[in-house]
Amino acid sequence: MERVSLIAELRALVRDRRRSGARIGFVPTMGALHDGHLALVDVAHEHADTVVMSIFVNPLQFGPTEDFTRYPRDAEGDAAKATAADVDVLFSPSRSEMYPGDRAVEVRPIALADVWEGAVRPGHFTGVLTVVAKLLNIVQPDVAVFGQKDLQQATLVQAMVRDLDIPSRIVVAPTRRDYDGVALSSRNAYLSPDERARAGAIPRALNLIAEEFAAGVRDGTRLEQLGRAELLTAGGVDIEYLAVMDPILLRRAETATPGSIVALAVRIGSTRLIDNVILRDS
Ligand code: PAJ
Repeated sequence: MERVSLIAELRALVRDRRRSGARIGFVPTMGALHDGHLALVDVAHEHADTVVMSIFVNPLQFGPTEDFTRYPRDAEGDAAKATAADVDVLFSPSRSEMYPGDRAVEVRPIALADVWEGAVRPGHFTGVLTVVAKLLNIVQPDVAVFGQKDLQQATLVQAMVRDLDIPSRIVVAPTRRDYDGVALSSRNAYLSPDERARAGAIPRALNLIAEEFAAGVRDGTRLEQLGRAELLTAGGVDIEYLAVMDPILLRRAETATPGSIVALAVRIGSTRLIDNVILRDS
């Protein structure tokens, strides 16, 4: 695996690979790598010959009271995991390489970002889209892979690529889960053992909703109530939102249909966790 921290170096490397006929795949991350991130590398390899992973904890997407400074960082551990996962090029730019001086331009969504995560985290998706646009311009991949775990993010990235004619295909890969169904997340590291046990209510709630939907329940409010009740059984789980929504505009849906999303955000202690499921007929 090649390790690169300069934009010019990364560009030269990718240019060489492309000249020799390689299709380029890209997996952007903020590091603290877990099997969810590494599964995205496998998906990228299905579509590409050379897979570039970026690790950059993007300050723009953290609010002033959020966890930017304490976000888990483990450069050497991550490099070992990326090597084992068959990453070809690891791009880890410094903050000054990505944001060298005053900025005059950002990528601000005009739809899809005023709800859910965007409502609770003002400016978050502008930070995400600005860095993802920069990374896509730096790497210029044929395919970039994002996780369903961050479904609103993946939806916004797809919209950005469409609206700004960025010539990369966006693939959304399924959520990798732990032994008890809890979605793998770098932020799970913040949970105490007791909090981690309570987090098991999240996949239980989503599974219950998916089962009830498959059994014929279509009323959005009813499905949400079932999920909320399941979350509350764990104790110590504060629900920020839990909603049935349409997959295109992410608006709350009164009636669930196949393809509807159920997404939630909860707080357990001081840790904020998100998860979602796509409803299917059976
Ligand atoms: P990060 O949280 O590190 O996630 C990087 C990618 O991994 C995202 O596409 C995310 O959806 C995916 N991912 C996280 N947990 C996953 C899981 N359990 N299963 C499958 N995929 C999972 O998301 C970001 O970083 C940043 O916002 C970024 C896109 C890198 C821009 O800074």
